[in-house]
Amino acid sequence: MALGTLKGTANHLGPDVGTICLLPFRLLADMMCLSLLRRIHLLVFIVCTTCVVNVVAYDNTLYDNVAVYWGQNSYGATNTDTAYFQQPISYYCQDDAIDAIPIAFVDTFFGTGGLPVMNLANTCNPTDNTTFPGTDLANCSALASDIEYCQSQGKIVTISLGGAGGGVGFANDTEAQTFAQTIWDIFLGGSSTTRPFGDAVLDGVDLDIEGGSSTGYAAFVTEIRTLSAGASKEYYVTGAPQCPFPDAYLGSVIDEVGFDAIYVQFYNNVCGLQNYDVVSDWDFGVWDLWAQQTSPNPDVKIYIGAPASSTAAGTGYLPIGNLSSIAVQMRQSFPSFGGVMLWDASQAYANDRYDLAIKDALVAAGGTGFTYPACTAPAYVAGQDYTGDSQVSYNGYIWEADYWTDSAPSASSSSDWSAISACSGGTTTTTTTTSVSSASSTSTSTAASTTATATSGSCSGVAAWASGTAYTAGDQVTYDGDLWTANYWTENDTPGDDSGSWTETGTCTSTAIARVKSRYFKWL
Ligand SMILES: *[C@@H]1O[C@H](CO)[C@@H](O)[C@H](O)[C@H]1NC(C)=O
Ligand SMILES: *[C@@H]1O[C@H](CO)[C@@H](O)[C@H](O)[C@H]1NC(C)=O
Ligand SMILES: *[C@@H]1O[C@H](CO)[C@@H](O)[C@H](O)[C@H]1NC(C)=O
Ligand SMILES: *[C@@H]1O[C@H](CO)[C@@H](O)[C@H](O)[C@H]1NC(C)=O
Repeated sequence: MALGTLKGTANHLGPDVGTICLLPFRLLADMMCLSLLRRIHLLVFIVCTTCVVNVVAYDNTLYDNVAVYWGQNSYGATNTDTAYFQQPISYYCQDDAIDAIPIAFVDTFFGTGGLPVMNLANTCNPTDNTTFPGTDLANCSALASDIEYCQSQGKIVTISLGGAGGGVGFANDTEAQTFAQTIWDIFLGGSSTTRPFGDAVLDGVDLDIEGGSSTGYAAFVTEIRTLSAGASKEYYVTGAPQCPFPDAYLGSVIDEVGFDAIYVQFYNNVCGLQNYDVVSDWDFGVWDLWAQQTSPNPDVKIYIGAPASSTAAGTGYLPIGNLSSIAVQMRQSFPSFGGVMLWDASQAYANDRYDLAIKDALVAAGGTGFTYPACTAPAYVAGQDYTGDSQVSYNGYIWEADYWTDSAPSASSSSDWSAISACSGGTTTTTTTTSVSSASSTSTSTAASTTATATSGSCSGVAAWASGTAYTAGDQVTYDGDLWTANYWTENDTPGDDSGSWTETGTCTSTAIARVKSRYFKWL
């Protein structure tokens, strides 16, 4: 294969040390090399040349993963220097900068002959390459060895469905389940005579759904999970929503089924990286809150998705120094942080190995372990007025007020507060609403220990929320085991929904169980 010239690889293991040695040596070498790999390159090179190994298996739990899309030749779409046009996928797998490569895209689900259509720009597409008889699905089996090379380097390679121009979607769950079987058969662990990448078995699916509706995607993911259960290797499901929360297409889907990683596109939107400094715009905290409190997979990882150059997206591109400091800040602030996603490989390589530079910054910040920052801000006090930029500690996060507010911080994107960091220890909210605290204060002394960690108390005397009833500011209701207070006049707005009409101001019992079940605490 043509390897071309790699820029900036002097400090990273190049193709000459990529050969895999026999298993016993490989394990030994892994033990010897792993911890040193990225810091003492020269030593690693000397130690490892005897058995020539540097393969570290993909690990979804790390904080320093880099996922880079490949397949759309984004550089070539907006630039003319053909030297930087998209290369074979193996070209991007010759060092340890990139950990995960979603192949973009399967952009039509049901094409001619009922099979999907995949377009990989200058590398393989249905117009320039042969298609399987009776379909518009390109036979890209020449790429099998390239993909397997990347996998042999410890990277995962997934198939991404959708894209900005995608003709995608399902009529119902049945259709979605059938499509999952198709994807399993032609790209993953199943078998078919129409496998676009031949014998190469991809490592999972990525959903980059930017049109159509949410219908069927949860059923699709569930079916992929069912088909891959008990398989001899691990399969991953990732999604790439845009940063406004919740995402228009994947929002309900990621609430319903577990994903392994979410590559949030922090570009082309007001919540993009270009507005990182505007606390009311930047919303990584909302995604972390979702990961901690709502995601069916509590270990889901959230990535900062970034354009890899100024021509890769409309807005959101930042010089590498800026992206690096933001990524490290998020890594140190939020436990769900998983790394950085870049769009796309061609742009990253053309832009002075932007992928390698961000990888180095993430590795330097540490791939494992999370230390919660202390809750240094004063505890939130219910009923108090706060001016914009005020910071408080509340329910395991430090929050900053977007503007003047007298409402409590909440996970909703319409909250007046932005979560700027997870935190632990220090101050803990002791606030109770007047009606509730009087109820709980009559209980025995054992209740006192729980009132310190949750706004608690019986909700006796407080009516359940009812649709069709009009409420005015300050009215209280119970809903889903919690006490809620209306922020302003409201009717038919369910507590906790996106309208932001209600603020959760307590839980309805004061037991430890109630605290664990609270929306503000991860299920332990
Ligand atoms: C796909 O292409 C490969 C060679 O690139 C060829 O050997 C194989 O027969 C093709 N498969 C079909 C079903 O046409
Ligand atoms: C697809 O066609 C293009 C143009 O002819 C060619 O350069 C490329 O190698 C082909 N890809 C595959 C996977 O056969
Ligand atoms: C699902 O949608 C397909 C395609 O439109 C249709 O043929 C089928 O009858 C639908 N099934 C159900 C259960 O609605
Ligand atoms: C990048 O960071 C520098 C130094 O903090 C800052 O002055 C500059 O405004 C930032 N640039 C962008 C585009 O955010």
